[in-house]
Amino acid sequence: MKIKSLFYSAAMMAVFISPQLAADQVEAGRTVADVHCQACHGANGISSAPTWPNLAGQKQQYLIKQLNDFASGKRPDPVMAPIVDRLSEEDIAAVAAYYSSL
Ligand code: HEC
Repeated sequence: MKIKSLFYSAAMMAVFISPQLAADQVEAGRTVADVHCQACHGANGISSAPTWPNLAGQKQQYLIKQLNDFASGKRPDPVMAPIVDRLSEEDIAAVAAYYSSL
């Protein structure tokens, strides 16, 4: 009985904590985007130039993959590569969560 109730409280905590973690990640990503990305991809993830892609609403995993591919050179791009070089793994996950949330 005791173990069962421990399990339930752990499960309930996970339910309450994870949306908060996701919200914190989006908030951290907004800061990364404001500093490094919005000049080209727009304040709300809609860009103002025909060759700069919109990022708003894109899938988080897709964005993470593209950013890692720019960093590794698998997707060579002279504009994006030096920008991604300045980001940590946490920044990449956060900025992807932010654009995905828009
Ligand atoms: C100087 C302008 C500029 C800045 C600043 C910039 N980008 Fe980009 N970004 C581009 C361009 C141009 C492309 C298109 C590259 C290509 O043609 O493959 C691109 C492509 C991308 C893509 C691929 C989109 C897709 O649909 O495949 C992602 C993701 C991305 N940028 C994220 C970011 C993030 C996150 C930041 C900030 C950390 C950022 N960019 C900052 C210009 C910029």
